[in-house]
Amino acid sequence: METVKVNASKEYDVIIGQNTVALLGKKIKSFFGDVNVCIVTDDNVAALHAEKAVKYLDEENLKHKTFVFPNGEKSKSPEVLFELLEFLASNHFSRKDVLVALGGGVTGDLTGLAAAMYMRGMHLVQIPTTLLAMVDSSVGGKTAVNLKAGKNLAGVFNQPELVLCDLQMLLTLSSEIFADGMAEVIKYGVIADKNLFETVKEGDIARNLEKIIARCVSIKSAIVNEDEFDTGKRQLLNFGHTLAHSIEKMSNFEIPHGKAVAMGMLLISEISWKNGFSSERCQDEIVDALLENNLPITCPYKTSELYYAAENDKKSSSGKISIIIPEKIGQCRIMNIALAEFKELLE
Ligand SMILES: NC(=O)c1ccc[n+]([C@@H]2O[C@H](COP(=O)([O-])OP(=O)(O)OC[C@H]3O[C@@H](n4cnc5c(N)ncnc54)[C@H](O)[C@@H]3O)[C@@H](O)[C@H]2O)c1
Repeated sequence: METVKVNASKEYDVIIGQNTVALLGKKIKSFFGDVNVCIVTDDNVAALHAEKAVKYLDEENLKHKTFVFPNGEKSKSPEVLFELLEFLASNHFSRKDVLVALGGGVTGDLTGLAAAMYMRGMHLVQIPTTLLAMVDSSVGGKTAVNLKAGKNLAGVFNQPELVLCDLQMLLTLSSEIFADGMAEVIKYGVIADKNLFETVKEGDIARNLEKIIARCVSIKSAIVNEDEFDTGKRQLLNFGHTLAHSIEKMSNFEIPHGKAVAMGMLLISEISWKNGFSSERCQDEIVDALLENNLPITCPYKTSELYYAAENDKKSSSGKISIIIPEKIGQCRIMNIALAEFKELLE
């Protein structure tokens, strides 16, 4: 079992290992006392893993309810968010109580926002059940729902008080959804750790999974500790994401986040190299890493089409946008450019 500490506006542990969900009831009781717990989960995860989480709450005699919503990105919406808030109110939850996000990034983002909003803030525990959520979305406190105009446009920073990454939960994931998480792992390799990138490029995953997750969380934690509110260094975590968000939006969220990130990382690496922004050519190694991990290397849209979907991106302001340039594998930098210049690059 590995524990990574996050020291942001809240300090908390990310505990990674086999059967870490067994800690749920004991940890909640020791942190918050005899509180009520609302497990928030999608219909897939509810059928597979909710019973196990409930068992560990029952063992500590903690009262609980479960809110279940339809799985998929389309549920990361203001409508489902408000259904959840109404559910909490009609079941008389108070601000001393706890929300447990049991699921992938959609569940974590939605639940994190609800936890910040309900009665101006209740406790939050994340139990990520996809690889993507373990290495990325459950840590760092970004929460959001999507608006019609774009991804993640309504949200707040809200750190959890505990994150339990239970490797056994990953056993029920399809290889497709596991691969989506590998896109974020590859991202960490490109932005911060050549050794991690090499391990992943060689496909040496299963044997090293606990260590790989812990390494990704450590990289994220170090960045978040320095720049929790995304005004500087944290933007490095957005490598490939500006174009990824456009791809997701253009596909009406049919292309999942991880695959869109894979396409976005490759496109921005190609653009960076072609325009002399990168000191080393990275795209060939990124292609190898993506192929080894069953991720796409072609994008169904022209880059010129992606610009219009990117205009609304959170990473753009006052006519400028931040893009993340891979200098070489293991090192990226932030480059601020005018939107007009970005448009030209994509054209
Ligand atoms: N907050 C952040 O910092 C951050 C970072 C990266 C991504 N994200 C967000 O995360 C979301 C993507 O997350 P995701 O890929 O986990 O998607 P997801 O939550 O939609 O999960 C993908 C699918 O896997 C299923 N699933 C989840 N756990 C399972 C399990 N253990 N076994 C079987 N099926 C399971 C879900 O029901 C769903 O159908 C996007 O909305 C993205 O914007 C947020």
